[in-house]
Amino acid sequence: MNSIQQEILLELRNLSTVYPTKRGLVRAVDGVGFSVKRGQILGIVGESGCGKSTVLLSILRLIRRPGYIDQGQIIFRGQDLRGLSSNAMRNIRGREISMIFQDPLSTLNPAFQIGQQIHESLRLHQVIDGSRSLGPLKMGQRAREKERVLEVMTEVGIPSPVDRYTAYPHQFSGGMQQRALIAIALVCEPALLLADEPTTALDVTIQAQILDLMRRINQNRGTAIILVTHDLGLAAEFCDTIAVMYAGRIVEQGPVDDVVANPQHPYTQGLLACRPRISERGQRVQPIPGNVPDLAELPPGCPFAPRCSYQRGACDEGPIPLVSTSLGNISRCLLHVDYRRQKDWKWTDRVALEA
Ligand SMILES: Nc1ncnc2c1ncn2[C@@H]1O[C@H](COP(=O)(O)OP(=O)(O)OP(=O)(O)O)[C@@H](O)[C@H]1O
Ligand SMILES: [Mg+2]
Repeated sequence: MNSIQQEILLELRNLSTVYPTKRGLVRAVDGVGFSVKRGQILGIVGESGCGKSTVLLSILRLIRRPGYIDQGQIIFRGQDLRGLSSNAMRNIRGREISMIFQDPLSTLNPAFQIGQQIHESLRLHQVIDGSRSLGPLKMGQRAREKERVLEVMTEVGIPSPVDRYTAYPHQFSGGMQQRALIAIALVCEPALLLADEPTTALDVTIQAQILDLMRRINQNRGTAIILVTHDLGLAAEFCDTIAVMYAGRIVEQGPVDDVVANPQHPYTQGLLACRPRISERGQRVQPIPGNVPDLAELPPGCPFAPRCSYQRGACDEGPIPLVSTSLGNISRCLLHVDYRRQKDWKWTDRVALEA
């Protein structure tokens, strides 16, 4: 890896985001930290409700009130986004960091042509001539912008872009709508793309095409990507590094090969066992027993303990730290904390997991 690729683009430090609710404070993101280098693809993986979307929305400071970022830093290109004015933040969104939202249909406006919607994103940021005014367009500028819109439509694989420019969202298939959303996200050439379950609503073939497209964009333009998905197998094929989340916290993190080949946290192991494989069609997948806990009433210890076959009394006693394991991943589990002095802990339990 050369020095440009090693440049850290985004670093989250101890980020917590909460939603006050009638049932109490929901700590949707609790002390999350990771970094993304230029051109890198990070996967955030976990079951529904574990805080994945909240992490992405926090990065762009799009958490709706009464929710708020409680603590932590969001360092993008050396500056903490939490300290920026609303205006400065608007310039970051779309232009520097773009997001493909979880619900594609609600993002596209049914009343506007696809081309217009891509054009609007470009115009909002005035990328073509660098001016910030949204007044009447200068001579030739509109033509240059339209050219750029057609270029990006071609890049994301929308066929006959000149004809499709004037089509409305309902005239596009699900896969084409997702391509249009990627075009909106990419038209200003952001350095970082946040993709929240971008292929979940699509069938397997289209899913592969969209992932292929995102990989090409990553390779050709060096765009860094944070991919949010509940599918660890999909993340394994697509990402360089993986952060596994459970109940608002990262429970395991590391390079993709390490996390997938040697999952250390029992939750990661459970997620991998849930993944249906084509070669094993007909065999039952093993779901993780039990449910995700209520984030408004988290236990003092490990929130995964009630579902975990390695559970010991000590798991419920207090917060578990994220520690480096002997295999290089980082895991939030007592199996990887030096717990040999604990009375009810047997060294053989740990050996069993690592065998
Ligand atoms: N606006 C909100 N008000 C109250 N609670 C919220 C709000 N948005 C999210 N939550 C809660 O925060 C937690 C994390 O939600 P989030 O949407 O980030 O999870 P997720 O991992 O993206 O889930 P999914 O895979 O279903 O999209 C959940 O318990 C959810 O109920
Ligand atoms: Mg989500």
